[in-house]
Amino acid sequence: MTQLPGLLDAEAIRKDFPILDRVLHDGKKLVYLDNAATSQTPRQVIDVLSEYYEQHNANVHRGVHVLAEEATELYEGARDKVAAFINAPSRNEVIFTKNASESLNLVANMLGWADEPYRVDSDTEIVITEMEHHSNIVPWQLLAQRTGAKLKWFGLTDDGRLDLSRIDEVITPKTKIVSFVLVSNILGTFNPVEAIVRRAQEVGALVLIDASQAAPHMALDVQALQADFVAFTGHKMCGPTGIGVLWGRQELLEDLPPFLGGGEMIETVSMSSSTYAPAPHKFEAGTPPIAQAVGLGAAVDYLSAIGMDKIAAHEHALTEYAIQRLQEVPDLRIIGPTTAEDRGAAISFTLGDIHPHDVGQVLDEQGIAVRVGHHCARPVCLRYGIPATTRASFYLYSTPAEVDALVDGLEHVRNFFG
Ligand code: ALA
Repeated sequence: MTQLPGLLDAEAIRKDFPILDRVLHDGKKLVYLDNAATSQTPRQVIDVLSEYYEQHNANVHRGVHVLAEEATELYEGARDKVAAFINAPSRNEVIFTKNASESLNLVANMLGWADEPYRVDSDTEIVITEMEHHSNIVPWQLLAQRTGAKLKWFGLTDDGRLDLSRIDEVITPKTKIVSFVLVSNILGTFNPVEAIVRRAQEVGALVLIDASQAAPHMALDVQALQADFVAFTGHKMCGPTGIGVLWGRQELLEDLPPFLGGGEMIETVSMSSSTYAPAPHKFEAGTPPIAQAVGLGAAVDYLSAIGMDKIAAHEHALTEYAIQRLQEVPDLRIIGPTTAEDRGAAISFTLGDIHPHDVGQVLDEQGIAVRVGHHCARPVCLRYGIPATTRASFYLYSTPAEVDALVDGLEHVRNFFG
């Protein structure tokens, strides 16, 4: 078996993930390489979810009975765990949402309804990048349409990085918010946070970082990032679906208006007006995703026990190996950086003129799960003149043998299509 420096004992870790034992069609063992879309769930998280529903299920913050108190304690306990996981200065800065998309939309709406100095209007500019997931493009297009603000973006270099050569013209004194992805879901690129944050701070713009493809894979320190908001999602980091996080600086969360109104987010309500609860509750209207938050807390425990630095080193070694092996496949073109430095473990590629949907289907017949398409980042495909890519993405339980299986699978695809 291929041994690489920095690898975790993935065989031991895989025992925590029952789904990885699945045998698919024709007795083919599952090779799960679609982790950037969603990660698998360890038994430790599944057990916590079962126990929650078997023992503690109730609504939170509302009841005086035992189950309501237990559910509240577990839900708020998950907030503590997430706050520690991202080194948030305060637990009150952690808002639970349903996914990263909702977290990003929440910021766009806070700013759309805000008063000065945060207000986005027709005299202001919003800055994003060409490598954003649609969830960090469409909310800003909607906000620009509603307010008349100008939407600007950083373009991409030929090797899949942000073109920051005209940073001072893109981020200007008119910029209200700069929102960008930390690690691209399609290119894998790890973006230079410091340079962007420095320029945003110079002009007094807020910074929102989409860390959906970073939080599962590396130690995330929101204080070190020096952003104002950071968004990510639970289901890509061993947690359940239906739970996302928005971290925001406390002063901002105090100043900015809520988006969704309803139960739990208020202090008092009369027929003519309402006052709001302090953050984070101001931004969590209605019954929150309670079990899902508890599951995310368990996922954070699981990942922390292994160690985020060890997970990052594992994925780095595997990515380096995968890039080297994939480059041996004739006609394969990696779309994105071709060195493992400064990139994540999602690798997109094209294979000659074989359509990625065909590549994905023939790989699936061999038990290999990858994602094909534009990966909700269509502007990237347009930029590189391709309709779609095939994407293999790795996680803490991925192995060099799975990289080899992918490469063998791609040879099979090439033979199949002549
Ligand atoms: N955002 C997820 C992906 O990149 C769904 O696949």
